[in-house]
Amino acid sequence: MGEVRNKQIIFNNFITGVPKETDMGLKEGKIKLEVPQGSGAVLVKNLYLSCDPFMRGRMREYYDSYIPPFVPGSAVEGFGVSKVVASDNTNFKAGDLVSGITGWEEYSLIQRTQQWRKIQQADIPLSYYVGLLGMPGFTAYAGFYEVCSPKKGECVFVSAASGAVGQLVGQLAKLYGCYVVGSAGSKQKVDLLKNKLGFDEAFNYKEESDFDAALKRYFPQGIDIYFDNVGGTMLDAALLNMKIHGRIAICGMVSEQSLSEPKGIHNLYMLITKRITMKGFLQSDYLHIFPKFLEQIVSDYKEGKIVYIEDMNEGLESAPAAFVGLFSGKNVGKQVIHVANE
Ligand SMILES: NC(=O)c1ccc[n+]([C@@H]2O[C@H](COP(=O)([O-])OP(=O)(O)OC[C@H]3O[C@@H](n4cnc5c(N)ncnc54)[C@H](OP(=O)(O)O)[C@@H]3O)[C@@H](O)[C@H]2O)c1
Repeated sequence: MGEVRNKQIIFNNFITGVPKETDMGLKEGKIKLEVPQGSGAVLVKNLYLSCDPFMRGRMREYYDSYIPPFVPGSAVEGFGVSKVVASDNTNFKAGDLVSGITGWEEYSLIQRTQQWRKIQQADIPLSYYVGLLGMPGFTAYAGFYEVCSPKKGECVFVSAASGAVGQLVGQLAKLYGCYVVGSAGSKQKVDLLKNKLGFDEAFNYKEESDFDAALKRYFPQGIDIYFDNVGGTMLDAALLNMKIHGRIAICGMVSEQSLSEPKGIHNLYMLITKRITMKGFLQSDYLHIFPKFLEQIVSDYKEGKIVYIEDMNEGLESAPAAFVGLFSGKNVGKQVIHVANE
C-alpha cells in the first residue's frame, strides 16, 4: 500500500489559562498505510474524535496525574472511534471497528492498544462509543452506582448536567426512582434537561447570583447526593445544602481546570456536622464493571429508557474550536468530531 495524506491537529506548546484554538494547529503530512513487521502496532483510520475536559490537564507541563502531558509538536491525543486498516497485532485485524485513545489525525499508527475495545453492536451509531457507550457514559454509571450509593426516593443534584457525563447521571438517577435537579449554563440546556432528559427540575446557574439560595429553592429538605462535575463555588454551595449522611461524588472540576490558583472551598466543616461522605473517583478504577455497564446501557437505550444528546462538529479542522468550546459551555451534549466515514 502506498502513502496517503494525513492531516493532523498538532499540540503547539504547554499553556496556562483557558485553552485557545491557537494552542493547536493544522499540519498536513503523509503516512504509509502499513505497519512495520514485529512492531505489534495497529494502523487505524479515525472516524470520530472526542473532546473531553480532561484533555486540558494534558496541556500543562507539570501534571501530577494519572496520564502524562501531551508532547509539543505532536498530534493531540484523545478518545476516538477508528477502523483498523493494517495490523501487526493478533488482537486486531483489518476491518475491525475499535474505540480507544488515538491521535487527532486522519490516520494513526498506535502502539498502546491495551485499553482498546472492539465495537460489537453495529446497530448503534458509531459515535456513541466515545460518549454514551464510552468513557463519559461509563463515568456516569460507575460514579452513580459505585460512588453515590443511591437509594430510591433520594434527592440528587447534578452539575454540568446536560454534558456527556451529567446527562446520563440524571437519567440513571431518575430510573432509580430519585428526585433529580440539574444545573447548566443556558436556557436551551435547561429546557433539554426538563423536556428531553427527564430531570424533575433544572436551572441556569449563569442567571443565579447566589448558588446557596438556588439550591435551597430546589432542595428545601436538602440534597442526598451531589454528583459534582464542576467544583468551585457550586461545590461550596452544595456543601451547605447536603442532608445528614449525604454523599458527594467528585467527578470533575471543569470550573477550576484552567485556573493557576484554585478558588478554595470554604464549607468543608459541613463534612463533620452533616457526616457527609465526599469521594473523588476515576472511571478507570472501575473498568472491571465495564461489560455490565455496556450491557445495561445498550439495552436501556434500545428500549427507549434513556436518550442521548450529542453535539457533532464536521471535519478534523473543527476540532480545536470544538475542544475550546467545552470551557465556555458551547457544546450542547457530548462534543464529538466527525472526521471520516468508514
Ligand atoms: N473522574 C472521571 O473519571 C471523569 C471522567 C470523565 C469526565 N470527568 C469530568 O466530568 C466533568 C464533565 O465532563 P463531560 O465530559 O461531561 O463534559 P461536558 O459537560 O460535556 O462539557 C463541559 C461542560 O462544562 C461546563 N462548564 C464549562 N466551564 C464551566 C464553569 N466555569 N463552571 C461550570 N460549568 C462549566 C459547560 O456546560 P454549561 O453550559 O452547563 O456551563 C460545558 O458544556 C468534567 O469536569 C470532567 O473533567 C471525570
